[in-house]
Amino acid sequence: MTYNIAVIGGDGIGPEITAGATAVLNKVAQKFGHGFAYTYVDAGGVAIDKYGEPLPKQSLDQCMASDSVLLGAVGGPKWDTLPSHLRPEQALLGLRKALGLYANLRPATLYPQLAEASPLKERVIAGGADIMVVRELTGGIYFGERGDEQDSAYDTERYSVFEVERIARRAFDIAVLRSKRVVSVDKANILRSSQLWRRVVEDVAKDYPDITLSHMYVDNAAMQLALRPSQFDVIVTSNMFGDILSDLASAITGSIGMLPSASVGDTARGMYEPIHGSAPDIAGQDKANPLATILSAAMMLRMAFGLQAEADAIEKAVDTVLGEGFRTADIAGAGDKVVGCAQMAALVAQAV
Ligand code: IPM
Ligand code: MG
Repeated sequence: MTYNIAVIGGDGIGPEITAGATAVLNKVAQKFGHGFAYTYVDAGGVAIDKYGEPLPKQSLDQCMASDSVLLGAVGGPKWDTLPSHLRPEQALLGLRKALGLYANLRPATLYPQLAEASPLKERVIAGGADIMVVRELTGGIYFGERGDEQDSAYDTERYSVFEVERIARRAFDIAVLRSKRVVSVDKANILRSSQLWRRVVEDVAKDYPDITLSHMYVDNAAMQLALRPSQFDVIVTSNMFGDILSDLASAITGSIGMLPSASVGDTARGMYEPIHGSAPDIAGQDKANPLATILSAAMMLRMAFGLQAEADAIEKAVDTVLGEGFRTADIAGAGDKVVGCAQMAALVAQAV
C-alpha cells in the first residue's frame, strides 16, 4: 500500500531533520513492502519568502490531500520582526486549526543510555521518566481574542466544555493503555477557565473508574517535574501550559532533540513533528539531532497508518544506535561517537 505524506521541511534545521526521517521511512518501506510518496510542501518562513504568507492556500490544500503530515520546524530570526499574523509560527497554528488537530501527544521518555545527558542528578532520575503530555492544541490563549490598544495589549484564555471534554477523553483513553494515572494541570486557584477545566475533567473521569485522577497547579507541576519526574504518567493540560511543561519534560530526558510529537484530531490524518524549534544557529551544518523527527515518523506509522511492527522497528533501531554509543552533539558525552545529522539518520535506517 502507498501512503501519501506531506513533508514540510520548513526553516532552519527543518529540511535536514525531515530528510533524516524520510531516509528512515524509505528503509521501512523497502523492508516491509510499503510505499511512501512524499509531497514537499512550503510553509513557514520559506513560504513567506516565496509567496508572502506563512501558509499559502495551496500548501494547506496539499496537506489536506495527504494521508498525514510530517513537519520539521518553522521560524527564525529573519522573520522575527514581522507582525504576528504574518510570522512563520502562524503556519503551525493554521495547520493545527484547519486540520482539527486538537490533541497534541508529547511522550517524554528517558533512555537509560542518555541518563548522563539529563541535567538531573542520578538519584532523581533513578526512578525513570516515562511521561505522556497530552496538550490541548486548538484552543486557549493561543486562539483567544487578542488585541493591541494605545498602551496595552491582551490575549484571552477561553475554554469551552466541549474542548475540555474531548481532550480529557483523549488523555483518559491513553491512560487506560498505560499506568492508569492522569494528572490534570491547571491554575484553578486563579483562572476561571481553569476552574471550568477542572470541573469538566472531573466529569469525564466518571466514565473511567479505573483511572486515578489528580489535579496539580501548573507552578507546582513544574517543580514536581524537576523534583520527582517518576510520579507522572499522563499529564493533561491546556495549550500554553502544555507548551511550557513539554519543554521542561524534554529537558529532563536529556535533550529537546529527542522528543517527538503527534497532533491528532478525530480523523486519521495527523501532523507529526519534533517538539523542538528550527535552531537557526546550527542550520545547514549537519549538526542537528534528527531523532525527534525520526521518532515522530514512528508515531505517524503507528497512529495514522496502524503500522505497529514498522513503528516498533524504528523505535528499536533508535535504541540500538544509542546503545552503540552514537550521539549527535546535543546528547554527546565523553567517550561517545559524535556523528552528524545525516549519519545519525543513516545509522538508524541501517539498524531498521
Ligand atoms: C511547539 C512550539 C509552537 C507552540 C510555536 C513554534 C508556535 O513551541 O510546538 O511547542 O508554541 O505551539
Ligand atoms: Mg513549544
